[in-house]
Amino acid sequence: MPEIEYKKMDSVRLSADKHSVVIIDQTLLPNELKYLELTSAEQMFEAIKQLRVRGAPAIGIFAGYAMAVLAQSILDEGFLGRLSQLGSYLVSSRPTAVNLSWAVERQLKTAKKAGENARSALIDEAVKIHLEDISTCKAIAENTLSLLHEGDRILTHCNAGALACSRYGTGLGALLLAAERGFKLSAVVDETRPLLQGARLTAYELHNAGIDVTLICDNMAAWLMSNGEIDAVMVGCDRVAANGDTANKIGTLSAAVAAKHFGVPFYVCCPYSTVDTSCRTGADIVVEERDGSELTELYFARRTAPEGIGFRDPSFDVTPAELITAIITERGILRYPYAF
Ligand code: MRU
Repeated sequence: MPEIEYKKMDSVRLSADKHSVVIIDQTLLPNELKYLELTSAEQMFEAIKQLRVRGAPAIGIFAGYAMAVLAQSILDEGFLGRLSQLGSYLVSSRPTAVNLSWAVERQLKTAKKAGENARSALIDEAVKIHLEDISTCKAIAENTLSLLHEGDRILTHCNAGALACSRYGTGLGALLLAAERGFKLSAVVDETRPLLQGARLTAYELHNAGIDVTLICDNMAAWLMSNGEIDAVMVGCDRVAANGDTANKIGTLSAAVAAKHFGVPFYVCCPYSTVDTSCRTGADIVVEERDGSELTELYFARRTAPEGIGFRDPSFDVTPAELITAIITERGILRYPYAF
């Protein structure tokens, strides 16, 4: 199994010649570490849609670089219109993470402002988005760690580490920072059905960083909480509504409900750019529905359900603000009731 080191690894970067976006294909981990060089809008759309690049902040960083790369081959005539079309196309690949449209809009503003220097300005801005994410994640990790105690057992869901963002990640940041400082925490990782981001990516990243990891199926978390085996839950998120309702990977809501019931603090860790005040509540957040083949076939040697049945495959759920003990951003620790 390949090794990665979160502080040296970029799940998304610009190629040296600035003609492509280079990503780690996250669908192949943990068995294979393969980099892909993406040059066309279609390849970039496919990479987001198929979760080769995934995790809300990483999708934002990717979109920043994608706009910069695509701009290099747009003709001067109608430049802004074409760039805007390509941006809308990328945004249509996945609906829930606000970071995608946030980065595309930021790049469109950059291009407008820079006029004839737009192409080089877009490259600079993409690098800026990336560097900002690195420092933001570190600040989120510091803020989150300030709430934890030595020996805490942390439940996490999906993957909110270096692959999903940069360096420390969001939901995993406190675990990584604690390990660097010799402050002992351990992780209980939900496998995260159906795409197994917890088992494939989080367990892999944390294990590589030397952290004590215990993998469980999602439906075991409430039982562990009832036995007093979890001290806090830490997750990332894809969009925060103005009232603090929070969209994250499907299964997050179940963990939040159980945590509330058993009195376990439930922390959402994210960059402030994930707050979308145009969504008044979680009811305004669009939840992606995916192709049910990931329920029945993707990770199984043999099909696990009969052909021809119906399916539902929502990829995210929305956790009501009142179930969230704190929303932790680079700006500090916010507590319920939230008002953004
Ligand atoms: O479908 P995914 O794998 O992109 O979902 C990712 C999550 O739900 C993460 O928890 C979220 O994007 C936060 S990443 C720091």
